[in-house]
This record gives sequence, C-alpha cells and structure tokens, in this order.
Amino acid sequence: MDKSKLAINGGPKAIDGFEAKGEAKIGNEEFMEMADTWGYSPEALEKISEIIDEDRLSGSPFLVGYKPNSKVNQLQDEAAEILRAKYVIAVTSGTAALHTAYIAIDINQGDEIIMPASTFMATAMAAVVARGIPVWCEIDESMTIDPEDIEKRITPRTKAIAPVHMSGYVCNMDAVMEIAKKHNLMVIEDCAQACGASLHGRRVGTIADIGCFSISSYKPTGGGEGGLVVTNDEKLYYRALQWSEGGGLWRPDRYALPRWEGELFCGLNYRMDELSGTVNLVQFRKMEDMLKRKRTRKRWVTANVPAYKELKPQVIHDLDGEHGDKVGFFARTAEEAENLAKALSAEGLSAGTRGRSDSRDWHIYKYVSAVMDKLPATSDGCPWIDPKTGKEVPVEYSPDMCPKTLDLLSRHVAVGLDQWWTENDCKKVAKAMTKVFDAMYNRDEKYSNLLEAIAID
Ligand SMILES: Cc1ncc(COP(=O)(O)O)c(C=O)c1O
Repeated sequence: MDKSKLAINGGPKAIDGFEAKGEAKIGNEEFMEMADTWGYSPEALEKISEIIDEDRLSGSPFLVGYKPNSKVNQLQDEAAEILRAKYVIAVTSGTAALHTAYIAIDINQGDEIIMPASTFMATAMAAVVARGIPVWCEIDESMTIDPEDIEKRITPRTKAIAPVHMSGYVCNMDAVMEIAKKHNLMVIEDCAQACGASLHGRRVGTIADIGCFSISSYKPTGGGEGGLVVTNDEKLYYRALQWSEGGGLWRPDRYALPRWEGELFCGLNYRMDELSGTVNLVQFRKMEDMLKRKRTRKRWVTANVPAYKELKPQVIHDLDGEHGDKVGFFARTAEEAENLAKALSAEGLSAGTRGRSDSRDWHIYKYVSAVMDKLPATSDGCPWIDPKTGKEVPVEYSPDMCPKTLDLLSRHVAVGLDQWWTENDCKKVAKAMTKVFDAMYNRDEKYSNLLEAIAID
C-alpha cells in the first residue's frame, strides 16, 4: 500500500463534502412558532414569515449558555451590574434558586431555617428538599418577617434565617442582619416577589449572604420560568455554581482534577435556557423604568388621601425602595377589613383582604400541608426523622403557632395601583379612597396626608 497517498501524509482527502443539503436544526419554523406565542395577528405572522424566508440562515441558534454571546451570560452580567452584586447565576426558577442557595450555605439534615409564616411555600419546601427544617416566624406590620420574633425562634440547631420580601415590600434587613451576626447565622433573602427593590440604596438580594430571585412570568420582572442566585461571597458562588451547573460543567476545564478542596461534589442541572435568558435580559433592562413608574403612582395617590385615626397604614421600610404596587392598611377587625375592601371595590378600585376567609392559600403557613404534616418526598422521613438515629427532630407545627401573622393577614386591606395611570387617574383613585374612608373613619389631622403618615410611621 502506498502510504504517501493517505491524507494524513499529504495525499488527497477521500471525502471532500456531501451532496445532501440539510436544514438548520432550529430554523424558521421554530421562530414562527415563537412569533405565534407572542400573539401576533395571522397577517403579521404571514409578513414575518415572508421576510425571514428570504434570509438564508447560516446555522441554527444554540440555545444553551456555552457560547461567547450567550444571552444568559449577558443577563448574568447585566443583572450583576444593575443589582451591584459580584456574582449572579441564572437558573430555571425561583425554587431552583432557593434550593441552590440552601445547598450553597451547607444546610445539613436537621438544620433549622427561620422563615416568615407568610411566604409562598417554595421558601419552605426548597429548605426541606435540601434536608433543612423550616421554622415559622411571625410577620409584623410591614407584612414581612418580624425581627423581634426571630430571636424567640432561635435554637441550638438554627443555621439560617430566610427573610422574604413579600409583594415587593422590603424587610427590615438591618435588624435581621444584626440578629444573624449576634447568633452567627447565615441569611438567605428570598426576593422572588421583589426583584429590583432596595433598602436604603442597597438592592435586596445583596444585603444578606445570598439572594434568590424568581423571574418567572408571574413576577413584575421576568418571562417564562427563571430564577437568579446572587451573592458577593466567592465561596458561596462556587458552591452554588457547582450545584446548579451539572456538578462541574461550569469549570474552564471541566474534566480537570479539583482545584481546591470542596470544588467538586454531586450537583444538578438548573441552568437557565437561552430563550428564557433572552426574554429576561430585556425584562431586566426595562425594570428600573417600571419601578420608577410604580413608585411615582404610589406617591401621587397617597399624597392626595388624608390620614385617618382608625386606619393604620402598613409599615414601609423604604418608600423609595419598595416596589409600590399597593397601598396597604390595617382595619381594626377582620370583619371591618372585609367591609372596607367591599366598599373600595364598589367604587371601582382593585381592593382586597383575606378578612375572615379561610381559603387554603399556600402563602400562609398553616395551609402549607407538605410542611405542617411533615411530608418529605422520600419514605425515610428525612429531614424530620434523622436517618442516622431514626429519631424525630424536636420541631412541631400547629395551625395556631403564629397568631400575630393570622391576625395581621385578616385585617390587612390592600388597594392595587397601576404603573401606567396618569396623574389624573391617580387623583381619581385618591378621591374614591377618600370618599370611602370619610364615610367610615375620622381624619387624623396630625398628618397632612397619607403619604406623610406612611413616611413618618
Ligand atoms: C416568595 C416566593 N419564593 C419563591 C417562589 C418560587 O419561585 P418560582 O415560581 O420561580 O419557582 C415564589 C414564586 O411565586 C415566591 O413568591
């Protein structure tokens, strides 16, 4: 055999191409299906189709993050800049972000995590999946975790506190961080409902050790499913990355031996996909303007409503930092809250209260039956049964364990605001609120208006 004719030795290649002409794996059909999801009219879809069919696709998009111009990587970079955080990891959901954060802080079986009795159940369930034990804590008049009650819930087994910035309201993080420091506890901020909010100039999610965001379609910023893990701590970042990126796929040389002790351990794949990343990148760019619109509307409304003696405004820890979706008050009783919400709604406002209703709402601890009834996914009963000893952990749950939370929820009335209202719309809303309040309560002349009462109290 003449070895000099081999291509490896400089001879002609046996195969110089194929006749077959394939199609891009992901091409115009997929793009049109997305355009259809956006809800464009058939005429618009037809026009888009004509235009893109003229363009010859050179290849198909690669819809995962391992490429230089990845939208997910851009989202992580831009979110880090906007939130002023060192590290951001984009994951598949807020629940995935929480699971990742609990693992990053090294929750061990039986470690207790103190969290508010009013949160979406994911805060607690992700803790259980990480083998931690949720410990419910009261909320206060800010409708977020009550720092005074946190201290009462601390035991020798407490590992962390998970304050939740509910409904765009901001927790009293200064008090939470002080308690954490005093008792040497980790803090995970659940910012699923408050992306972009801040407390005295610091973005939520960057105040504690680690922050978790949901950026799903249900949230003000976000589309599809998505979440973010945010931290300034290098060690927590690499642990979070190891857990959420396939147990090591993130590494520059993924097959290399561990570069430091603890770098490699078994993990999952919670990577955000490029389509969600694309939508969420744009959502992040629009976030600041949206927050400004909301806060301005809240000021326009509350500056035109008087304060009332019998109607206590909700405590707002940072009026310029919260989202400003709602104006909240406390009636004196649950029954009164119901009547107030009905009267406001009858005027054309979007007003709501839980009042006396006993609906099985998964934002209220006593209805989170997976926790209340200690229902883990596995039959060994872990984390509520210690697999090493077979003994139950000494944590009990009962529906009446957080009476203050239940009381506040039943008396809280919220009037929903709209970021797109004009100044005149806001005046109309203020007039409707004043009409109802004047009929039910006495004006409190101590304050020139409700805005002042909120800002001062
Ligand atoms: C407070 C809170 N935490 C966590 C989550 C979970 O986020 P996701 O639905 O993206 O998993 C939510 C979602 O509504 C939430 O409201």
